[in-house]
Amino acid sequence: MTLKKPFFGGNWKMNHGPSATRGFLTEFLGQYQPHDDRTVVFFPPAISLAAFKVASAERSDLLTGVQDVYWESSGAFTGSISAGMAKDAGAGFALAGHSERRHVFGDADEDVSRKVAAIAGEGLVPVLCVGELLEERDRGEVEAVVTRQLAAGLSRLSSDQVEGMVIAYEPVWAIGTGRTASPEDANQAHELIRGLLTESVASARAIPIIYGGSVKPSNIEELLAAPEIDGVLVGGASLEASDFAEICSAGGV
Ligand code: 13P
Repeated sequence: MTLKKPFFGGNWKMNHGPSATRGFLTEFLGQYQPHDDRTVVFFPPAISLAAFKVASAERSDLLTGVQDVYWESSGAFTGSISAGMAKDAGAGFALAGHSERRHVFGDADEDVSRKVAAIAGEGLVPVLCVGELLEERDRGEVEAVVTRQLAAGLSRLSSDQVEGMVIAYEPVWAIGTGRTASPEDANQAHELIRGLLTESVASARAIPIIYGGSVKPSNIEELLAAPEIDGVLVGGASLEASDFAEICSAGGV
């Protein structure tokens, strides 16, 4: 499957339970009309996925994913969901390696690698998140960190599976801080990622490489104008229907 670009992801994190999800969609559906030149994917909390599906049933243009999975398919793993369960609930995508999973919950590169493999193994699209901490940027380690995280994330995939994924570059210092990476800085990291993907697969150009970190209506156009930025993964601004409708309407050809 080739995903249309630009790609807009809304990562709700631990916000919007089922009632708030229904309320959000009542507003959003009136403010964002289908566009056939882009991909729009919501990542609600898993417990809100069913409510999202019911409330958006008329809108096949709005796709869904989960924010995390465990790599085993079932068993005694309290609190977790598997990629197969996410698929059964109607998700088509799953995040892996989001910085909050890495830095709040301790997901290591090896864990992320297993999660990506489990997601791709179920036929879902993995959205592998990579990005450096501020101190790593200050030490000049952006390339080393991104290269390591990307290599680990891809290590258990076939080239066909790599060609079917999405990479999100989310510098940790730009997440939820109001401090967006400049389009030039983000573009440079995306170029690095594109180059690394080109070493592994033939059609690296088709893989969406999206940017996340304080994306909002006021900076979306300049971010999408950068040549290597194929879309965005939005946290805070995806919680407000009007802001996210504006973001999802930006760019395009
Ligand atoms: P913010 O847009 O709130 O900075 O969050 C970005 C993010 O983590 C998306 O996954």
